[in-house]
Amino acid sequence: MKRDQEKLHKWYLENKRPLPWRANKNPYYIWISETMLQQTTTTAVIPFFKRFIKRFPTLKALASANTEDVIEAWAGLGYYSRARNLHKASKLLNDLKKFPSTYKELIKLPGFGAYTSRSVSSIAFEQPVGVIDGNVIRVLSRKHNLSLEWWKTKDRAELQALADKYVDGYKSSEINQALMELGATICTPTNPSCLLCPWLKSCKSKKAGTTEKLPLKKVKSKKQILLWKVYKSKNKNAKTLLIQNDYAPFLKKQWLFPGSIKLLNTRPKSYDLIHHITKYDIYVQIKSKTSKELETFSKKSEIIKIHRNEIQKVSPSSVIQKILEH
Ligand code: ADE
Repeated sequence: MKRDQEKLHKWYLENKRPLPWRANKNPYYIWISETMLQQTTTTAVIPFFKRFIKRFPTLKALASANTEDVIEAWAGLGYYSRARNLHKASKLLNDLKKFPSTYKELIKLPGFGAYTSRSVSSIAFEQPVGVIDGNVIRVLSRKHNLSLEWWKTKDRAELQALADKYVDGYKSSEINQALMELGATICTPTNPSCLLCPWLKSCKSKKAGTTEKLPLKKVKSKKQILLWKVYKSKNKNAKTLLIQNDYAPFLKKQWLFPGSIKLLNTRPKSYDLIHHITKYDIYVQIKSKTSKELETFSKKSEIIKIHRNEIQKVSPSSVIQKILEH
């Protein structure tokens, strides 16, 4: 173990990328970047991170912002409940004297799951906890030639225990990021660059010839089919009525067109557009309604009435853009 840790550590110090959130140990930066990194790749996160930090340079700036502005700054990253939780947590954090440093304290905050709590407490505060994400799961499964069903609690715990062992006796900020970096740059899902790997000689899957078969693939559950009827005003000059979503199982609490949702067994014969998200294939039918018909929603839900070209600002999700462009 000691020799493996040493090799990995040395490799990281020599090969780490100069990412903007690695410039210092500001826990606010690390928290924002690690939250964004759960959405997409490192390269894709960089411009989002820079823009977000320019707009909300400090925890205090984020805590005193409007939720709508935070959602807007998150536009393009998807999964907007992360942005909402980020904002909620910023208010709680800003009321504290200092940024909590331990995994145990952080995990109590909104949006802080095992990954965020472990990555922030180790990268910003050197707490001795390992972190597992997709990259680390791949690296460790291959290194130790483990056919684990990593999406199941028990097998995941085994990988977590292994990751915890790797940080033991070393700077956890560096070992955790080394494992992620190795997965992102060398131990890639296909065509890994084994010849450049610091663990080439000790990698058990390399020896067994199983590298490309690991980690095991999670069997994808079938997506559910939703029919989303979206109600827009017949009157092209009227302001658009949006309601705070209390009816659709996606984009929860976001400003949406009024409408209805139905779960279907097969895809509908007619629809205006289709949008795919993790759990659902959403078939959208756009319906015109009179202002009077739309008014009935004002009684049931929170509403706003805004100009068409303001919609993007309050509701930047891509399905809303698709509907607007239709
Ligand atoms: N992926 C997620 N967090 C990361 C980090 N800190 N360094 C490299 N890749 C990552």
